[in-house]
Amino acid sequence: MIDLSTKYMGITLKNPIIVGASNLVQDVKNLKKLEQVGASAIVYKSLFEEQIQLESLEMQNDLESYENWDPEHATLFPDLEHAGPAEFLMHLKEAREVLNIPLFASLNAVYEASWIDYAKKISETGVAGIELNFYHHENDFDKTSEQIENEQLHILKKVKEVVNIPVSVKLSPYYTNTLRMVKQLDRAGADAFIMFNRLFQPDIDIEKEEHHFPYNFSSRNDNGLALRYAGLLHSKIRGSICSNTGIHSGSDVIKMLLAGADAVQVVSTIYRKGISHIATMLGALEEWMIENGYESLSDFKGKLSSKKTQHDLFTYKRAQYVDILLKSENFNKYHPKSEGELTREEQW
Ligand SMILES: Cc1cc2nc3c(=O)[nH]c(=O)nc-3n(C[C@H](O)[C@H](O)[C@H](O)COP(=O)(O)O)c2cc1C
Repeated sequence: MIDLSTKYMGITLKNPIIVGASNLVQDVKNLKKLEQVGASAIVYKSLFEEQIQLESLEMQNDLESYENWDPEHATLFPDLEHAGPAEFLMHLKEAREVLNIPLFASLNAVYEASWIDYAKKISETGVAGIELNFYHHENDFDKTSEQIENEQLHILKKVKEVVNIPVSVKLSPYYTNTLRMVKQLDRAGADAFIMFNRLFQPDIDIEKEEHHFPYNFSSRNDNGLALRYAGLLHSKIRGSICSNTGIHSGSDVIKMLLAGADAVQVVSTIYRKGISHIATMLGALEEWMIENGYESLSDFKGKLSSKKTQHDLFTYKRAQYVDILLKSENFNKYHPKSEGELTREEQW
């Protein structure tokens, strides 16, 4: 009997596939379907500072007066204007009541008071844990990385003081030294690390010469950083490791576990392939475990982490980079295309 269960922020999940925060979860029918096809837990869509402020001001008119606000949120999440925090908390509670699997909440505030008040209110809805979505876009030329990191550490500590459920942090990959930041957050009590958030970026329409904001789903090529940091951090921190971004198939899940993740979060692959794809990924994981003689995740979790491969000069180290770039045989299989082989877009 194959055991897919895993421990994530102190909670036993029946398998490592968690559905990450997205708009999918706002529909109760989707929640139930995600549970039926085998998702082990679901993260509810974040409550944003903009929603918190809605109660007291007209969001669109006053947006500019809040220098730290990220106006992208308003465009990217069009449902925002219909959902203030009271409504959000009500939906969160409803979602928790329809599900038998753990539901995690997610919060993306700006002001300290909002982080603290709403973390507390969210914890009172009975969710299994809370994810602090440290989505940060730098737009200040003078703020130092240390200031930003200290603010995030401070918020984590404050939230931990007021809630009695596990607290995770969802990070961007853009810290100068991500390992140090993770170590500090770990010491400050983070119960899990979701690595990494996918930051929305604007695109430009060259016909209309204007910006547009696509949903910009990930592809499988985007999971390298998640894999690398799962490998680097496995067994070096107290909190759980949850890999995120670009995990699209059962084999991607297996890779993250081999590197050292305790769980993964998936979103884009569900949008692309449908909710039932979770069952396909779980089937692939189980099949691979049977083929390789593994009975539980702990039999192979972290087998290819940096700790377990420390005598290998090349993995996770600078040597790997230099090896790839300096050895010509690595490139001999790639030939520059001739003009005739290129599509119009490629030629341009
Ligand atoms: C439509 C959509 C809505 C999202 N909403 C949230 C959100 O509310 N909070 C959050 O932390 N992440 C949000 N995300 C990011 C995802 O949770 C996830 O971190 C990201 O898409 C990378 O995972 P993936 O490669 O599996 O898509 C959203 C992503 C999408 C595509």
